[in-house]
Amino acid sequence: MKVLVLGATGLLGTEIMQVLQERGIRALGAARSGADLTVNIADPLALFRLLVRVDADTVINCAANVNLAQCEDDPEMAYRVNGAPAGVLSAWSQQTDGRFLQVSTDNYFTGTEKTKHDEQAIIGLANAYAASKFSGETMAREAPNSLVVRTNICGARKGFGRWVLDSLTDRAPIGVFTDYYTSTMHVRACAEALADLLVTKHTGLVHLGSSEVSSKAEFVRAVADELQIDPDWIEDRSARGMSPARALSCGMDVSKAESWLGRKLPGLSETVRSLVSEDERCVTHMTSNLAAAG
Ligand SMILES: NC(=O)c1ccc[n+]([C@@H]2O[C@H](COP(=O)([O-])OP(=O)(O)OC[C@H]3O[C@@H](n4cnc5c(N)ncnc54)[C@H](OP(=O)(O)O)[C@@H]3O)[C@@H](O)[C@H]2O)c1
Repeated sequence: MKVLVLGATGLLGTEIMQVLQERGIRALGAARSGADLTVNIADPLALFRLLVRVDADTVINCAANVNLAQCEDDPEMAYRVNGAPAGVLSAWSQQTDGRFLQVSTDNYFTGTEKTKHDEQAIIGLANAYAASKFSGETMAREAPNSLVVRTNICGARKGFGRWVLDSLTDRAPIGVFTDYYTSTMHVRACAEALADLLVTKHTGLVHLGSSEVSSKAEFVRAVADELQIDPDWIEDRSARGMSPARALSCGMDVSKAESWLGRKLPGLSETVRSLVSEDERCVTHMTSNLAAAG
């Protein structure tokens, strides 16, 4: 098998490259810089040429612009990066019967509850990022050998996971949303599951995330708990009225993924343990706590 990973330098792409390497699967990574191959996927011809040159039998697309504010300011850019490339990849898949995994988002669902949405749940497009990702999903699903994977990830390297660890270990002022719900999974568990799904024949749409839905506030407090930090300075906040607007009830029902994978997906405490154990400062913090406890 020869796999092309688009977005190979990102939070998820880096982890996927590692997992594929560990499994002895030949993988080439692409991004605008810093990867095996250089490409700007917003240029359809450049992407098409890359596909011809690499001649992979499988493509995982985890390249994206995940910055909601940038997407809102420039919806055309959002579409060119997050939407249109899936059309090129879909055409490639249809012509070659190549396997195509399109990584997508959970930033879609309507409602305000802490609930689990399955793959049939009604979609609302609250912002330009969601609209661009959904156009990508629609184009990807045109290809019979494609699988669209909606997820939500955290890792210690960057993004939400990095922010939580930094804020807690530095005791930085921090406001946490009590009414914004996700099924955030650790990026390593996500990459492992994607590598498993790659070699199956499953197609269509699947939700891949933690088996437990939590609010951002619950997530941050669970990290504090793991670090044995009393988060007495943390402020509870509401995500309503945020700009850009976002879907607040993003919990996913992951039972379809669990049945395909033949295993239960990690819950909140396992996700938090993976996040904390990835970060050297946190490990040092926990070790000194243990030493102090005797
Ligand atoms: N992070 C989350 O919390 C989250 C939540 C839900 C869903 N997702 C989805 O998960 C996937 C991976 O997200 P991530 O957090 O790993 O993103 P990330 O860390 O921001 O990485 C994005 C990757 O895409 C590449 N990229 C961006 N624009 C590109 C372009 N025009 N041409 C070629 N490559 C480009 C980046 O490299 P260069 O910038 O160097 O090109 C980087 O390798 C995305 O589909 C995202 O929508 C993420």
